[in-house]
Amino acid sequence: MGSGSHSDDAHPGGDIGAGPAGLLLSRLLQLQGIDTVVLENRSREYVEARIRAGILEEHTVQTLVDAGVGDRLQREGLPHDGIYLQYPGVRHHLDFPDLCGRRVWVYGQTEVTRDLITAQLDDGPPLLFGVSDVSPEDVDGDAPRIRFTDADGNPQVLECDAIAGTDGFHGVSRPVVTAGTPGRLWERTYPYAWLGILADVAPSSEELVYAWHPDGFALLSMRSPAVSRLYVQVDPTEKIADWPDERIWEALGTRLGVDGGALQAGPVTEKSILPMRSFVSAPMRRGRLFLAGDAAHIVPPTGAKGLNLAVADVTLLADALVRLLKKHQTDLVDSYSDRALARVWRCTHFSWWMTSMLHRSGDDFDAELQLSQLRRVCRSEAAARELAENYTGLPIDR
Ligand code: FAD
Ligand code: DHB
Repeated sequence: MGSGSHSDDAHPGGDIGAGPAGLLLSRLLQLQGIDTVVLENRSREYVEARIRAGILEEHTVQTLVDAGVGDRLQREGLPHDGIYLQYPGVRHHLDFPDLCGRRVWVYGQTEVTRDLITAQLDDGPPLLFGVSDVSPEDVDGDAPRIRFTDADGNPQVLECDAIAGTDGFHGVSRPVVTAGTPGRLWERTYPYAWLGILADVAPSSEELVYAWHPDGFALLSMRSPAVSRLYVQVDPTEKIADWPDERIWEALGTRLGVDGGALQAGPVTEKSILPMRSFVSAPMRRGRLFLAGDAAHIVPPTGAKGLNLAVADVTLLADALVRLLKKHQTDLVDSYSDRALARVWRCTHFSWWMTSMLHRSGDDFDAELQLSQLRRVCRSEAAARELAENYTGLPIDR
């Protein structure tokens, strides 16, 4: 969890959690002359090895470039001008620049995290790995603090002006917010999960393929011209041991194959099952403790919004904290939660819609509704534009 920060005039602040949200917030504040401390309970090796999201919206890319951490992204990231939607007999290309004037980039969250950690350790404020017992305190007043135990086992107290709870879904910040503010939680779990693999094989399509199939959803994605990232819909109760590589490739081949285009298999280097849920916690603030990213909300992965939404939160929160800590004006921190939640709900709807359209569950009636919706997106420019605008990221209302 978290980070802390202090401004030129010696007002300290703090963030909790060195995921993309906490690291980027710290970087944005540092560029405005506000010092931060980032507290992370895992090791650097663990954080840098986590395989997660892979698609960056244009806004996310621009934010990273503007923050001075976009050099490798610009060299190694793969710009994509669209995606394919597939259902039996059809593989249809959606051209994003044509539909909405934007595109997306393939660049793994792992790489984004590595770039941010390198910048933070090279010339940034402190980033402490391996801390424990992190606890935000006195968040209702103007001088909150974070108690924690450092990696050597010594108890520490970080006095702050503000605390960012960027400690993900299982962090300690959200319970502090919900315990002290009247608010609400919304949650939906889905009756399916994704089994994801990384494989050392060139992607069998130059752009992503989202495939509806009677056996279940499949997604062809990638991390580089030599590394494929692939997902198949599975039952959430399934065990990874029941999915040897041959079974995964067979399912992928059946669901993603098209006439004349076989799916290339290769050595599998990572394999995991991801549960799927929608979750929103409001408000995203209690006093001087502000939630951002997965600490406040989770979307199912279809549509690749999770990481991008965390970056959008942090964009709003950085503006608000700069105004609070440098100008002592509270207007932007006061409106932060409402403005962030408006985008959260848009992304929650889009992710739910993509998920519901593409995954098999229910009966044949549901399947016909899904196919009707897919045909609509492939045949109607207005329906395709709606998908493209959301997928590439709607402008942020700063
Ligand atoms: P996180 O990345 O979760 O970072 C939170 C940080 O806080 C972590 O480093 C954690 O170790 C640290 N932390 C937690 N508790 C404490 C504590 N008590 N004290 C100190 N530190 C703490 N999104 C997509 O768009 N596409 C995908 O394919 C995709 N795949 C995913 C796969 C998995 C397994 C998961 C979990 C998520 C996936 N997501 C995906 C979602 C996306 O990765 C998240 O939305 C994104 O990581 C959010 O960033 P964050 O910084 O808010 O949270
Ligand atoms: C990836 C993940 C997604 O959730 C998605 O919609 C597209 C791509 C990926 O991990 O590459």
